[in-house]
Amino acid sequence: MLMSDKLLSIKDLELSFKMYEGTLNVLKKISLDLHKGEKVALVGESGSGKSVTTKLILGLLNQRNVIKKGNIFFNSRNLLDISQSEFKKLRGNNISIIFQDPIAALNPVFKIKQQFYEVLSNKKKISKRESIELASKALLNVSISDPVRVLESYPFQLSGGMAQRVVITMAMINNPDLLLADEPSTALDVTVQNQALDLMDDLTKVTNTAVLLITHNMGVVRRFAEKVYVIYRGVIVEEGTKSQVFKNPGHPYTEALLQSIPKLNGTSIPIHNDNAPNYAEIPKFTHPK
Ligand SMILES: Nc1ncnc2c1ncn2[C@@H]1O[C@H](COP(=O)(O)OP(=O)(O)OP(=O)(O)O)[C@@H](O)[C@H]1O
Ligand SMILES: [Mg+2]
Repeated sequence: MLMSDKLLSIKDLELSFKMYEGTLNVLKKISLDLHKGEKVALVGESGSGKSVTTKLILGLLNQRNVIKKGNIFFNSRNLLDISQSEFKKLRGNNISIIFQDPIAALNPVFKIKQQFYEVLSNKKKISKRESIELASKALLNVSISDPVRVLESYPFQLSGGMAQRVVITMAMINNPDLLLADEPSTALDVTVQNQALDLMDDLTKVTNTAVLLITHNMGVVRRFAEKVYVIYRGVIVEEGTKSQVFKNPGHPYTEALLQSIPKLNGTSIPIHNDNAPNYAEIPKFTHPK
């Protein structure tokens, strides 16, 4: 892969929240690279700092008590330096996000057609009629046979699986360079979750869109990603290709995550137990490139 294909490059990113009780250090010198069209997973348990990373990429952490250091280069621009109006242009246009709960991700008070219009008109001037035509075509393309009914619906009128397809279609309709999928489907059953992953895979392949998949589930990583970063308490503890990480995990925390993949008989080994080492103190493991 050429260096010039680099799309997103996070370098020594640090994030802290100033709280009444003191400073909470959430991200500690995170570095992460994503090339054009690449499928990368950021995997780690709850509270490890996955969602705040996506929020920083989207320019959504601007409260006064937020301290950021380092760089986030996107197409060579530093996202920590750009204005809110520039972010507004990037969001939904060059960078899209799919949040974990599809119904909640949609605005409950607007019909689906209005939400498509919002996204499409961020890219270029468009009439409401053109917007409906484009949205119908996109929905047909994801095997929604009655796009008009869906476009005329409010989010609560859609099933979870249908809402998920709509959300993914909407996120992809402007052919973004980067799709952030923050635990896209933990709220759904496994079949719907797999369908969502397959749909993301299909749509992003066509447009050569890179994906940063945020999850705590190694089963999801195995199904989808090419490259893996493992995050533990705001530190990247391991990085490598999928086969490197699955065949040869180099960090004990990664091994613990792999053991916690739900087994078919429903049992899985919990990561937290009294004998677990302090994973943050164990050096990062980087597989050879
Ligand atoms: N706005 C905020 N103010 C203060 N602390 C925050 C804020 N947002 C997140 N945090 C803290 O930062 C840490 C990382 O949160 P984050 O939401 O990134 O976790 P996560 O890895 O996405 O977890 P999950 O898998 O549960 O979604 C947590 O300790 C959280 O409490
Ligand atoms: Mg999260």
